[in-house]
Amino acid sequence: MKKIKFFSGKEIPLEMHKVRIVQKLFLPPVEDRQKALNEAGNNLYLLKNNDIFLDMLTDSGVNAMSDNQLASMINADDAYAGSRTYFELEAKIQEILEMKFFLPAHQGRACENLIAKRFVKPGDVVPMNYHFTTTKAHIVINGGRVIELVSDDSLIPNSTDPFKGNFDLNKLRNSIKEIGAEHIPFVRVEAGTNLIGGQPISLENIEAVKNICREHGIMMLLDASLLQDNLYFMKLREEKCRDLSIKEIMLKVASNFDIIYFSARKFGFARGGGICLRTKELWDSMKETVTLYEGFLTYGGMSVREMAAITVGLDETLDMEVISQGPQFIEYMVNELDKRGIPVVKPAGGLGCHLDAMKFIPHVSGKEYPAAALCSALYIAGGIRSMERGTLSEDRNPDGSEHLASMELVRCAMPRRVFTLSQVDYAIDRITWLWENRELIGGLRFTEEPKTLRFFVGRLEPVSNWQEKLVKKFREDFQDSL
Ligand SMILES: Cc1ncc(COP(=O)(O)O)c(C=O)c1O
Repeated sequence: MKKIKFFSGKEIPLEMHKVRIVQKLFLPPVEDRQKALNEAGNNLYLLKNNDIFLDMLTDSGVNAMSDNQLASMINADDAYAGSRTYFELEAKIQEILEMKFFLPAHQGRACENLIAKRFVKPGDVVPMNYHFTTTKAHIVINGGRVIELVSDDSLIPNSTDPFKGNFDLNKLRNSIKEIGAEHIPFVRVEAGTNLIGGQPISLENIEAVKNICREHGIMMLLDASLLQDNLYFMKLREEKCRDLSIKEIMLKVASNFDIIYFSARKFGFARGGGICLRTKELWDSMKETVTLYEGFLTYGGMSVREMAAITVGLDETLDMEVISQGPQFIEYMVNELDKRGIPVVKPAGGLGCHLDAMKFIPHVSGKEYPAAALCSALYIAGGIRSMERGTLSEDRNPDGSEHLASMELVRCAMPRRVFTLSQVDYAIDRITWLWENRELIGGLRFTEEPKTLRFFVGRLEPVSNWQEKLVKKFREDFQDSL
């Protein structure tokens, strides 16, 4: 990919697309933001979209579509069974992953449900580089447990390691020895890793994990939901990928796996998902669960319009100029915050810019959910919706005690091609203001706490009147500004 230089010497990411459809945004005044936050139980999932200025909650299902994706949706072939659009999607998957068999599902967690139901038995253990919330929940609900095998250094937010998503191979070998291969239904590779800052895994590490699994006859499974960002980092940071095209890297990655599943809300820039399988035996063993839980085998819960958009989106994933936009905007935001001394996860990964809440507000204890508290504060400061990725995103231990997360991150997701650079600058500005006023931020406590995936619908309240104080300080500093 050629770099476009500015005559001024400025180094900013340049959009290789133009905006042709826009959506009007609203920024409610700070007092209204505090009111909306309290009505939502300090859970940003429960806010109304109209109360949000910059929605940096997620990159899931909210990426900007291309003109070609939109055009393909109009032309989709509507049929309950045998839709031409489905076969076009299947053919695209066969082309880019060289996996012959495909099962459609309505989104990533639906794939996880089908996979866990089919392969995980009580007492099983699933090793992975790092867990994802819904993945872990499905494995646990089927009687299994997960172990995380990234190196201890990968959990240090401020680092120069280009592949913090890599498995620690010694940990993998030792775990297989301890657990016994017969209790390991598969090793799950997440490329890149959502909960530790969108950090990538290298091709070399994937190949080494595959060799260990082959020695022990263990199946290899890839969660490819964030693969497009990971491919970008492989091309940029890994010597052996430098001279390969994105398509070649994708094929090399895929060749290591027996099963690949993905959320097409990310991989494919649309909405949906699916499971790609290497053998007919695997496909046969799972197809009935698709018709039971998702829909007929030629749609699996997706609309034909979305399937058409995924097919085009997957093709566009092969274009370095398309997949570089997200990581480059994220890198810009990470670098600008880092320059100001604000603690962020480094090096910049995919998915979003991650603030290190443990360092941002060290005075808030893990039991008062520092990352969630910082998300609430950021919404008050700028109408920006981020996502908590820390203790609140963990469920409690079976004995009811808190499972304190190893990292407390606030993810400011960067949905692809959605925000302009001035909007990113606004987010940087409001985070800088919060950093200057960080001693005002306090913790949160639950008022309603669900047992599973509590972060989605749980409700919380501030432990003191810190939010009123933050609003007051905002008015003093910004006067009549929104
Ligand atoms: C790595 C990873 N796996 C699985 C999922 C679940 O996908 P979905 O939200 O489509 O259910 C996500 C969603 O964020 C993800 O990031």
